[in-house]
Amino acid sequence: MDLEALEQLAATQRAVRAFTDQPVPDDLIARILRVATRAPNARNVQPWHFIVIRDRETKRAIADIQSDMTNQPRGQSSPDRQNWADVPVLIAVCSTLPFGEGRAGDAATAGSIYPAVQNLLLAAHAAGLGTVLTTRWRLNEEKVAPLLNLPAGMAVHAVIPMGWPAVKLGKNRRKPVAEVTSREKFGNAW
Ligand SMILES: Cc1cc2nc3c(=O)[nH]c(=O)nc-3n(C[C@H](O)[C@H](O)[C@H](O)COP(=O)(O)O)c2cc1C
Repeated sequence: MDLEALEQLAATQRAVRAFTDQPVPDDLIARILRVATRAPNARNVQPWHFIVIRDRETKRAIADIQSDMTNQPRGQSSPDRQNWADVPVLIAVCSTLPFGEGRAGDAATAGSIYPAVQNLLLAAHAAGLGTVLTTRWRLNEEKVAPLLNLPAGMAVHAVIPMGWPAVKLGKNRRKPVAEVTSREKFGNAW
């Protein structure tokens, strides 16, 4: 186990919103999803289900929903964002709802999904692929679920565009640990 390599990986993992046309092979996606599915999750229920989307029309329809969510014309929700129809792959991270609905159930389900999402983002980055996490899909499930033939009782948590980065980004900028950490009680300097 190499902590230095992990530190470097975490520091250079970025939100990538523009991709080349180069395809992303299925076997690489499968490998990344294997890392995703190693994530911790409540009661080891593993409620996740991943949908790998390459179909241009589906990508475009999902992009339209995303644009409505952000109230911006398609492709403009971030200044450097590429039209999703042109992104090689979208990965929809879905789940069953094994802990029920309501706040406690939702928290357990989301808490079981986002570790897998983070594993996915890091594994993709380790493979040289770019990704960007988008959420809020649960608020638009009635629109996105039919596009994916998602059975009733399943949720859509995230859609992650994935491809080879069109630009090279440097390290991410994050607050120093000392600024976001206390010793024993809130406010005591670390
Ligand atoms: C909960 C969540 C929702 C996000 N939603 C979007 C989104 O809708 N569109 C987008 O382009 N990026 C989205 N992002 C990516 C963030 O903008 C990005 O992680 C943050 O700005 C840091 O960027 P960096 O890692 O390149 O420094 C989201 C990230 C998270 C964690």
